[in-house]
Amino acid sequence: MKKLLIQACSLVIALSLTASGHDATPDQGGKFEAGKNTFLLNGEPYVIKAAELHYPRIPRPYWDNRIKMCKALGMNTICLYVFWNAHESEPDKFDFTGQNDLREFVKLCQANGMNVILRPGPYVCAEWEMGGLPWWLLKNKDVRLREDDPYFLDRVDRFQKAVADQVSDLTVGKGGPIIMVQVENEYGSYGINKPYVATIRDMLRKHFGNDVMLFQCDWASNFTDNGLDDLLWTMNFGTGADIDQQFARLKEMRPESPLMCSEYWSGWFDKWGAAHETRPAGKMIEGLDEMLSKGISFSLYMTHGGTNWGHWAGANSPGYAPDVTSYDYDAPINESGQPTQKYHALRRMFAKYDKKQAKIPNTIKPIEIPEFELTEAAPLFSNLPEPNTDHDIKSMEQYGQGFGSILYRTTLPELEDASLLTINEPHDYAQVFLDGKFIGSLDRRNNEKNIALPPCRPGAVLDILVEAMGRINFGRAIKDYKGITDNVCLTLEIGHRHFTCDLKEWEIFNLEDKPEFYGAARFVPAKSLSKDTSGRLPRGIYRGEFTLKKTSDTFLDMSAWGKGLVYVNGHPIGRFWEIGPQQSLYMPGCWLREGKNDIMVFDIIGPRSTRIAGLDKHVIDDLRVSRARTHRNEKDTLDLTLQEPQLSAAITTGNGWKKLILDTPATGRYVCMEFPASNDGQNIISIAEICLCDETGRQIPREKWNVIFADSEETEGNHTADKLFDLQESTYWSTEKDSNTTNHIVVDLGAVYKIGAVRLLPRMEPGAPGSPARIRMYISGKPMIHDKKNGPGIV
Ligand code: GLA
Repeated sequence: MKKLLIQACSLVIALSLTASGHDATPDQGGKFEAGKNTFLLNGEPYVIKAAELHYPRIPRPYWDNRIKMCKALGMNTICLYVFWNAHESEPDKFDFTGQNDLREFVKLCQANGMNVILRPGPYVCAEWEMGGLPWWLLKNKDVRLREDDPYFLDRVDRFQKAVADQVSDLTVGKGGPIIMVQVENEYGSYGINKPYVATIRDMLRKHFGNDVMLFQCDWASNFTDNGLDDLLWTMNFGTGADIDQQFARLKEMRPESPLMCSEYWSGWFDKWGAAHETRPAGKMIEGLDEMLSKGISFSLYMTHGGTNWGHWAGANSPGYAPDVTSYDYDAPINESGQPTQKYHALRRMFAKYDKKQAKIPNTIKPIEIPEFELTEAAPLFSNLPEPNTDHDIKSMEQYGQGFGSILYRTTLPELEDASLLTINEPHDYAQVFLDGKFIGSLDRRNNEKNIALPPCRPGAVLDILVEAMGRINFGRAIKDYKGITDNVCLTLEIGHRHFTCDLKEWEIFNLEDKPEFYGAARFVPAKSLSKDTSGRLPRGIYRGEFTLKKTSDTFLDMSAWGKGLVYVNGHPIGRFWEIGPQQSLYMPGCWLREGKNDIMVFDIIGPRSTRIAGLDKHVIDDLRVSRARTHRNEKDTLDLTLQEPQLSAAITTGNGWKKLILDTPATGRYVCMEFPASNDGQNIISIAEICLCDETGRQIPREKWNVIFADSEETEGNHTADKLFDLQESTYWSTEKDSNTTNHIVVDLGAVYKIGAVRLLPRMEPGAPGSPARIRMYISGKPMIHDKKNGPGIV
């Protein structure tokens, strides 16, 4: 084992000794181009078999091993994103060292005989904080992200130049391994703006020169919206998709273009509080086999996902769905670098096309490490930093803070009766305290904003502790401020009338996710603290040491801890949250030491025990939420008695978007859709995406949509009703098998709109399984839900 680690750690030596196995002639430079229906590498037809890997998600000492694993699988290329925010944590302070050493990673790919596809964004999505954009862009409140905004474009240009300074001499034309560079990322899911995409293209041309091939990736349903004439177009789609259908439009428009699926999704990512995602190996392999048999190039996203260390996990939207620390992705190589059954099955299939497969390298086997205790504690409320004061409450970014938690404090007048506190909006997890007593929490995932306060004395201290989770990485909501983003108000009921006032005069305590903050704490023996009535120790910082006789990878069991972040030997290991599905954190052996190791945990809820064990198996599939995952309260029934449908229409069979126009546009905030039967006669309805258009045909924003009622949802495999507008074509809403309902769902659009049409996308698998045969749509100013307790019209 030790030998293995030493091998993995001595990359630099290995690099200088390994002769380049790259197919192109490295010294003179090669040529990669698009020929007639095929790529050409040095004039020869070439099928790209790319493995997506993200170097910041893999411990640097393991980079070489993971690249070799991809090669042994049968891949010839590594496809990688460059995360802008990891490289430029403060404006103009670029870091390309250690985990961020892009150049070294690219050279290592070359040393292993692999080509590289570089995807420098600036936006990348990738379930990474803010889709790779740096949070500090938000200090400029008017910034228009991913648009022709002079400030944004200036910052992008500096970043692209910094990336090019690292690797522009490593393009295939200059003897390096980089065969293609991607322009932006799936811009079609954000908007229509060819001039912006063209600006990014021109920047890349300026910094990388004219000899490297530039390309764009998007979905089959929207690539024409932003496709530039002089760029190669590639499609992204997932396991199970109808491959011919995915390329049909591209073939029509550019009959001679080489075909490539630039992201073929091997699995999917996990969100806190939602079931662990998996995708079947068989279907994935069938798709890749089909592509290879047709000479179609691909990149398998992810071949190895790795880990969202520290605070780097992003969040999905619409709604708010923060991603977990593990980016295992149900990929062929799992989070800790082990080949899975998917890996072996895929390798067997690849052997049909390539008889000379490289040998699978040795892997590091995870071990158990003895349970240890964090013996010191620094309770949060006795370790607050010096506060700032402010008349109005502001977001974290406006106080110059990017990550971590923030505490807002003010005092209240005497309140003889209970009142209602409203926080607009708590991003992302707020805990409310009155005179130091915990009142309750507000979770952005559930759109919670209101909390009842008990009567209080004059001058009672109100504390609101807000923890920031990942910034949204998808859709228009990426401009995602943290802390409290707007205001806090109190509503009192006096003589049956409601009075609301804005709370002002705040003290602000910045609890940044930085070693300086944790290091300044005054620790006491953890044993001196007692548990509260719910069995928790105080929220705060916990510290300990553990001694190891031998090191290897392990998984830290965090299941007795509440919610927060872990650091081991100074390495940010990631976020934990008791709700799951992830209960253990991947702890790479290369960051452990024989002898003494130190660990620090910041827990904003409070642990139930201060002990942690190292497991030899990862626990990423243990969901512990009591809340139902469906979108229907048991007591709710649908009430359409006073409604006439504004649309009643048949829907054609087959894949691709369907548009249905209302005879007369209708106005309302609530939309009830009814799907009485499916086209395939099975008793299941499935739909990938739904959009609404206004009377001019423009799409109505989906960021504030919320499903308030669904009479059937499949909870296995995450096919709940919110998948209807998660902007992901590969995930879909599905009713339960034989649910015997008429399949209604009610969506709150978040504001009143005039609706002229509905667009609907069936599943992308062949034959569009479960596509509805009919739609009836009701539009109203009221929710159309009958709640047995409160009567009609109450949500
Ligand atoms: C899209 C994005 C990727 C990633 C996947 C989902 O294809 O381009 O960055 O977010 O979705 O994992």
